[in-house]
Amino acid sequence: MSQLIVHRSGPLRGASRVPGDKSISHRALLLGALAEGDTHVTGWLPAADCQATLRCVRTLGISVEEEGGSELLIHGAGPAGLREPAEVLDCGGSGTTLRLLAGLLAGQPFFSVLTGSQALRRRPMDRVAEPLRSMGAEVWGRANGRLSPLAIRGGTLRGAEHQLPIASAQVKSALLLAGLYAEGETVIHEPGPSRDHTERMLRAFGASVCTEGASVRLAGGQALRSPNGSAALAAPLPRAAAPDGQRAGQVVVPGDFSSAAFLLVAAAIVPGSEVWLRDVGTNPTRTGLYDVLASMGAEIGMPGTEEQGEAVPANGPADGGAGPLGEPAADLFARSSGLLAGQVAGDLVVRMIDEFPIFAVAATQAEGMTTIRDAAELRVKESDRISSVVQELGKLGARIDELPDGMLIHGPARLQGTRVDSHRDHRLAMALAVAGLVADGETVVEDAGAIDDSFPGFTELMRELGADMATEG
Ligand code: S3P
Repeated sequence: MSQLIVHRSGPLRGASRVPGDKSISHRALLLGALAEGDTHVTGWLPAADCQATLRCVRTLGISVEEEGGSELLIHGAGPAGLREPAEVLDCGGSGTTLRLLAGLLAGQPFFSVLTGSQALRRRPMDRVAEPLRSMGAEVWGRANGRLSPLAIRGGTLRGAEHQLPIASAQVKSALLLAGLYAEGETVIHEPGPSRDHTERMLRAFGASVCTEGASVRLAGGQALRSPNGSAALAAPLPRAAAPDGQRAGQVVVPGDFSSAAFLLVAAAIVPGSEVWLRDVGTNPTRTGLYDVLASMGAEIGMPGTEEQGEAVPANGPADGGAGPLGEPAADLFARSSGLLAGQVAGDLVVRMIDEFPIFAVAATQAEGMTTIRDAAELRVKESDRISSVVQELGKLGARIDELPDGMLIHGPARLQGTRVDSHRDHRLAMALAVAGLVADGETVVEDAGAIDDSFPGFTELMRELGADMATEG
């Protein structure tokens, strides 16, 4: 198991690019597979989680060509083009892969089995299995259908109105994918709005999806078309030309805000730093960390958020045709500055749901008590991110009280390097590495290989900016 050795570092300086957005990369593969026509994806994230989706999509009979890691050409097979898989679909450690595929497979007239790593097999699946059953799918799982492996016999689905107990983009997306195959309308109400990449991409693929506050509505039976020749898209690439001379539809994946988060916080807390990050996705359902850091006095900026193409009207292109991807992106910068304590609760939690390990690191360096509430969902992420953060940052000398639904973080704390454990959680591993940059002595992050689940090249990128960080083993 590789470990990461980190020493207190001088200023981080420079301009960089983070890898493609993980959520958008998964969705590009799934929608590209179901669409009529070819879809050319650039900026795709070649991390372990997305590779799991790629493997599954291929096992379902879809041909996907890869070039240079971050480019894909997906030969969409149309709505009825998936084939019964001859083997179990292994989602690795990726909850997004398993939950989104569960929704997609619920609409297919064949049998399939979804499984994943030991950690994924501990995460709750009843949140997707139950609403899919209410639409008419047969879904079985361990522990009375609560845990994977899940076995699915899909088929004719009925549209249904779902009231989700917690805001979850994975559950919402699974139900939207099932809804494409349902008779009638699928309506999903969430307690607060979760990330809306699926809705935006469905519109880009020509579907009509209505959003009203935290509710989404989709009519069944809509076919997807690869987003042809849209103004949104990158310059057409010759290799994407289809045999009949038509260009493949294009999807351009912006940089992942959740990966940028580690660099933004690192620059904010390492004295003398100034870091620029090019072309990062700034979808407002994802940028809660930016808002809370700004409220804490961080010197961060997002000059000129740029839509990748024209904005898509919230209810889809008027003519029902394929529209642009409609994901905003911008260059971001962060400079070191003193931070004051912050407060996170309510709808803000879901807008920064993946950022709590790194946010906790920022809070250890802020003046005063930072409060995180309404975040019990963190307990069922890649690790229990309340207890793992409290435990591991505690080893470095952070003062954090654990709450059932959050944490109280008392800052500023002088951190002292020591051995810490990633709990095989990519985001915890990277957060601990960033903490090591401001800790005295040496910090060793054990089991750091999990970083490749979302951010291949993290250590190299940090080193280029001036971090004293190296992988061993
Ligand atoms: C994701 C949704 C979130 C997030 C996960 C990715 C997605 O999960 O934590 O990393 O791509 O839809 P939940 O929907 O379970 O909150």
